[in-house]
Amino acid sequence: MPRWGVVMSQILKIIRERQSSRVPFDPEHSVPRRDLKQILEAARWAPTAHNMQNFEIIVVDSKELLERIGNINSPISEAFIRENYQQLSFSKEEFLQRKVGILATMFPPEWRDPAKVHEVVAESKSWLLSETMEGCPVVLIVIFDPRRRAPASQGDFLGIISLGCVMESMWLVAQGLGISFTVMSVFSADLVEKELKQLLKIPEHLRIAFAIRLGYPASTTAKYLRVRRDLDMFVHDNMFGHRWHTRSHTTSSVSKRANSHSTKRR
Ligand SMILES: Cc1cc2nc3c(=O)[nH]c(=O)nc-3n(C[C@H](O)[C@H](O)[C@H](O)COP(=O)(O)O)c2cc1C
Repeated sequence: MPRWGVVMSQILKIIRERQSSRVPFDPEHSVPRRDLKQILEAARWAPTAHNMQNFEIIVVDSKELLERIGNINSPISEAFIRENYQQLSFSKEEFLQRKVGILATMFPPEWRDPAKVHEVVAESKSWLLSETMEGCPVVLIVIFDPRRRAPASQGDFLGIISLGCVMESMWLVAQGLGISFTVMSVFSADLVEKELKQLLKIPEHLRIAFAIRLGYPASTTAKYLRVRRDLDMFVHDNMFGHRWHTRSHTTSSVSKRANSHSTKRR
């Protein structure tokens, strides 16, 4: 196999094995600074619309600050519980068949019952961010300026996609370095964001896009079931609705080439 072929298979392996580590981290196991630098370097080189580089990142590793962040209340919204419910599969069989969404067992039993929405929302008023951070020694907070947008991009759609590129680039490097990574969207929820902005002196006009917790699992944990759609479930062959099949595609492109050769020969 040529050298680039080996690199490519390693990249795909990292992409496939990257996963959300929703397990408690060891607070005493810090992320080496050189590794952190590499993760930040990945953010630096991420593609962004018009190369706007529309992000700032706060690295929080001060124990005192992590504790203060952990003490911020993070109530859950009714919309979250209801919409989360729609993404759930209630058995492994259903999950393997749907190939999208999340297994319901990842969430507490009350979250899986639409009749209990109000109960969960009321109870969540006392929840703290520390439950989401679960012992992580370092948090990255990604910030952007909603007043700027990629040229003519409605709702800064392109700018927001760019933030996703930043996330994925950092995630892949963390995966390559053996560092666990979880996205924490709750950091951008209105009430949480307000408190964080005050605590970390984030200028009023900026918004928190998301936060990431980095670290190492406190104990070895079993891998969880992950699903993805097959290629022919989302790739269309020239026309929308014409399923793209790996095998038939190869065959048809080979046969087309064979035909064009034979045409030339004639
Ligand atoms: C924009 C975005 C926001 C996410 N927010 C959260 C989150 O708040 N909490 C969480 O546990 N996972 C979050 N995730 C992780 C997804 O749930 C996860 O990537 C998806 O379920 C697939 O699982 P995998 O990462 O293990 O492949 C987020 C992912 C993305 C891309």
